[in-house]
Amino acid sequence: MNFTVAIDGPAAAGKGTLARALAAHFGFAYLDTGLLYRAVGAGVLAGGTPIAVARALDPADLENDALRTQAVADAASQVAVIPEVRAALVAFQRDFARRDGGVVLDGRDIGTVICPDAAVKLFVTASPDVRAERRYLELVARGITADRTAILAEVLARDARDQDRATAPLVAAADATLIDTSDLSAEAAARQAIAVVETRR
Ligand code: C5P
Repeated sequence: MNFTVAIDGPAAAGKGTLARALAAHFGFAYLDTGLLYRAVGAGVLAGGTPIAVARALDPADLENDALRTQAVADAASQVAVIPEVRAALVAFQRDFARRDGGVVLDGRDIGTVICPDAAVKLFVTASPDVRAERRYLELVARGITADRTAILAEVLARDARDQDRATAPLVAAADATLIDTSDLSAEAAARQAIAVVETRR
């Protein structure tokens, strides 16, 4: 039996934290699909061409702190507009989603394109200011010097690119449950998400 939870939303809305909390609570496997695009972005920053890097990607080799920088995030959102790059990453995501048992995937197009039949779809969002502040605190905690205004601008630019692209734009699936984490702690957001999953199991 397979049970898929699809989580989408803009940058720094709390998708990853929520996805990990759900995976831990229910014992589900978790795939952060942003890492796939980040790995392609990093490959391009290292001199590769987007489509070739995407086709040669080894998804087994993704946990890498170097993928967590703003420069890589920005490069990721630029390669993510290329239809051939997205196409090269679909099979790995769908195979992961079809595994036996429970799975959680988070990204931008999981409920709309990758797993349109997911048992649960969540669209996780928060105000741009809250998201920029969270990203700022995350960077500072990792010892990286950051500038709030620059981060807000980067977050807004990335959202615009993700929402306006022609292929698999960021949009809530019609049947997604919206969770706005602007005024929620990570724990409160997780409780809401767990409650939604419980109703579908
Ligand atoms: O989620 P994360 O911020 O790591 O994603 C980095 C970028 O990868 C996003 O801004 C987006 O452009 C792209 N992405 C995507 N589709 C996904 C996951 C990420 O286009 N499913």
